[in-house]
Amino acid sequence: MGMKGRDLLSIHDYSVGEVATIMDVSRKLKKMQKAGEEHRYLEGKNLAMIFHKASTRTRVSFEVGFSQLGGHPIYLSDSGTQMGRGEPVRDTARVLSRYVDGIMIRTFAQETVVELAKYADVPVINGLTDLLHPCQALTDIFTAIEYKGTIRGRKLTYVGDGNNMLHSLMFACAKMGMNLSCACPEGYMPDPRIVKLAQADAAETHCKIEVLTNPLEAAKQADVLYTDVWASMGMEEQQSIRQEAMQDYQINSRLLSVARPDAIVMHCLPAHRGEEITDEVMEGPQSVIFDQAENRLHVQKAIMALLMSDENL
Ligand code: CP
Ligand code: NVA
Repeated sequence: MGMKGRDLLSIHDYSVGEVATIMDVSRKLKKMQKAGEEHRYLEGKNLAMIFHKASTRTRVSFEVGFSQLGGHPIYLSDSGTQMGRGEPVRDTARVLSRYVDGIMIRTFAQETVVELAKYADVPVINGLTDLLHPCQALTDIFTAIEYKGTIRGRKLTYVGDGNNMLHSLMFACAKMGMNLSCACPEGYMPDPRIVKLAQADAAETHCKIEVLTNPLEAAKQADVLYTDVWASMGMEEQQSIRQEAMQDYQINSRLLSVARPDAIVMHCLPAHRGEEITDEVMEGPQSVIFDQAENRLHVQKAIMALLMSDENL
C-alpha cells in the first residue's frame, strides 16, 4: 500500500497503518544515516519550501534531509518571491508544480495549505499552520517510541496553550493508541472540532483523549510531559495577557513529581525558559528535548521519501 503522491496536511487524514509505516521508515532511515549507508531515495528531485513564518528546525531539517536523500531543496520566503506581493496561492501552486516534485509550506491559515494542495499536482507537506504541526507531532511519537519501546496504552500529558502543537499531538497519539490528557486554562482550550475528530480516531485504537483544566490532575502518572510556548507565532502582541493566564501551566519539578518516575519531558522548541518550562527541567535528566529536535530530520526524511520516491522503501 503505497503513499506516493499523497499530501500531508493533517495526521487525521492518515490511517493507523500509514502512521505506523512512517514510524518504521523513520527508524530505517535513521539507522542508515547513523551507519553512513547511502539512502538517496530522492535523487534528482526538487522540493520548494515556502515559509510565511520564521523557522530554525523545520527549515534546516527539511533542507538538510532532502539533500541527504539526494534531492535539491529550494527555500522560498515571502519577501523574496511574488507571494509576498500578493500572487494567489492557487497560481503559485500550479507554477511550482511545473518545476518541483514536492512543496513544503509553513504559513498561517490551514486553508492556505488546503488551497495549495488542491491546485498543486505534487505532494504538499504542512510544515506548521495556526491549526496544526503534523511533522513535529509525528516526530514526537517517534521519539516517545524510542524511549518507551511501545506507547500503546501509555500516557502523554500536555500543559499550556491549546494550540497547533496540541491539536497535532492529539491526532498522533490517537492514531498510535496513546492516551493524551491535556490541561489548558479557560479561554485557551483546544479547538473542539479537533478534539472531536481526535476522539473519534482514539475510539478506533482504544485510547483516550481528555481535556482538563488542572495541570496536576492531567500530569498524574504521565509517561511523557509536553509543553509549548504560550504565545505562538503571530500572537506576539498577546504575550503578556497569555503569560498571566498560563502561569500555573508550567512544566516544573513539582509537576514532574506527579508524573511517573521514568517520565520523559518534551518541548517542540523554541522554548521560553521560566514561562512554559523551567530551565531546571529543560536541562534536567528527564528532558529528551534535543533528541526530539534531531528526530525532525529522520522523520521528515521518511515522510518525503514515502510521498515522493519512485523506489519502494
Ligand atoms: N519546532 C519547530 O517547528 O521549530 P522551528 O519553528 O524552529 O521550525
Ligand atoms: N506553537 C508554536 C510552535 C512553534 C514550533 C507556534 O506556532 O509558534
